[in-house]
Amino acid sequence: MRHILSTQQFLNRKELAGIFKKADVFEKADRRGEIAKPLRGKILACLFYEPSTRTRFSFESAMLKLGGQVISTESAGHFSSAIKGETLEDSIRIISGYSDMIVLRHHEPGAAERAARVSDVPIINAGDGDGEHPTQALLDFYTIQKELGRVDNFKIAMAGDLLYGRTIHSLIYLLSMSRGAEAHLVAPPALRLPEKYKDYLSSRGINFFESDNLENTLAKVDVLYMTRVQKERFASARLYERVKDAFVLNKELLAKLRQRAVIMHPLPRVNEISQEVDSDKRAAYFRQAKNGLYVRMALLDILGKRSPKTGGKKL
Ligand code: NCD
Repeated sequence: MRHILSTQQFLNRKELAGIFKKADVFEKADRRGEIAKPLRGKILACLFYEPSTRTRFSFESAMLKLGGQVISTESAGHFSSAIKGETLEDSIRIISGYSDMIVLRHHEPGAAERAARVSDVPIINAGDGDGEHPTQALLDFYTIQKELGRVDNFKIAMAGDLLYGRTIHSLIYLLSMSRGAEAHLVAPPALRLPEKYKDYLSSRGINFFESDNLENTLAKVDVLYMTRVQKERFASARLYERVKDAFVLNKELLAKLRQRAVIMHPLPRVNEISQEVDSDKRAAYFRQAKNGLYVRMALLDILGKRSPKTGGKKL
């Protein structure tokens, strides 16, 4: 694993446990204000062709906390030579000469894989269109472990935009690392999970149920993972308008959720979780976002130390 392109690279419990342990260690060290600086002298490039708040800032903060430095562009479609017609491959070839790792977010599925083919340094997929978002799913799985106290024998409802939601796609693969996980796929008919992910769940013997009724699902699950309807992926505004408020978790619905359930969301939220839910102790989404910092520190530490420019072993 030299690059991070898909959660399919992380289907190993021991490796996941190692990453999560490292994240725990970094969190504790951060609280004490005593993080070692293992990436001193290293440069992380953040190349974002799509908007981001959590992913880019947490990666940048993670790198700085580890003693490294950051070069970064948001709106890379406008602020990089892409606007002049440069290909992604050429941009990556150049930036990989200036940095030790590249975090890439792009609107095309498969973009991170294309970048990895021409890069001299590790590529981290920070979202490739409606493909995957592996580091988000890793921090999601870490959050489940932290909030629920286990990663086995739990029932999860994934609700909202299962068609375009890349965090969902990456999390589906990780569910196979859990013994006895059960998935409730809750989406309006137009936003159902693509077949290939359902085939994957079947092939790994994971029980799943599809429905378009959130209310009836709430009492059945330990984890409720809400998602935003991915407006930017729709061919027409009319189609988006039709499904955008398919599910709204409000106080009334909250009453139906198990007392010890965990509410997650990769964020940003739009209307799908009312603000009145935020003060409920089951609402874990802001803690989840904070966990992202430590999981990304763990990943950068692993990749940065093994980066070929240091003469280290390839991942
Ligand atoms: C997600 C993404 O970009 O896929 N955001 C994130 O990284 N936390 C989810 C989303 O945009 O809905």
